[in-house]
Amino acid sequence: MTKISPSILSADFANLKKEIKAIDKAGADYIHLDVMDGNFVPNISFGAPIISAVRPYTNKVFDVHLMIENVDKYYQSFVNAGADIITFHIENTKSPAKLIKAIKSEGVKVGIALKPDTPVSKIKRYLKDIDLVLVMSVEPGFGGQKYIPQDKKIKELKKLSKGMDLEISIDGGINDKTAVKAKKAGVDVLVAGSFVFKSKSYKKAIKVLRG
Ligand code: DX5
Ligand code: ZN
Repeated sequence: MTKISPSILSADFANLKKEIKAIDKAGADYIHLDVMDGNFVPNISFGAPIISAVRPYTNKVFDVHLMIENVDKYYQSFVNAGADIITFHIENTKSPAKLIKAIKSEGVKVGIALKPDTPVSKIKRYLKDIDLVLVMSVEPGFGGQKYIPQDKKIKELKKLSKGMDLEISIDGGINDKTAVKAKKAGVDVLVAGSFVFKSKSYKKAIKVLRG
């Protein structure tokens, strides 16, 4: 069954504790946390202190998406904050192999994210060592953007990861209609921000996405 990972970027930040509890109760599989530094992407969101502040209010998987430069320097603070999966963009580390090893040694899963124009060839050699690939279906930085289809990339990843324990996740512009397309292409996880948090019933929205 497709997993749903609501992105709290579109949640009510003044009531984060309430939002986290609500999304847990609504049946989310993962909770997606978008960290932005204003350098790698043209927006600033939140960092490790916010993640550790909400960590006590759910046992769901914290799916942390780091849109920050210099991940080598900062990953430890996200481990300490309670991340279950740490996903970084391949551009933001000097040594992907070393970083993957370091995160794994903390008992945390590892994901690599690809911007819409970054080819699979850039991460092919790391696929056997990681747990998740986050395929971006918008340019990273903001919620509420229009879906850019990634079918070719998803299919390529599916083929390459046969026999591996690797999840393919898609992030950006996911709604009732684009979810159908992404699932058809073969994704395992749908990240959705505005579609879930702008809906009246989180439970219904998650159910619709799961299909
Ligand atoms: C974009 C973020 C996404 C974002 C998705 O840079 O990585 O996770 O929150 O938001 P929607 O679902 O509204 O496109
Ligand atoms: Zn994200």
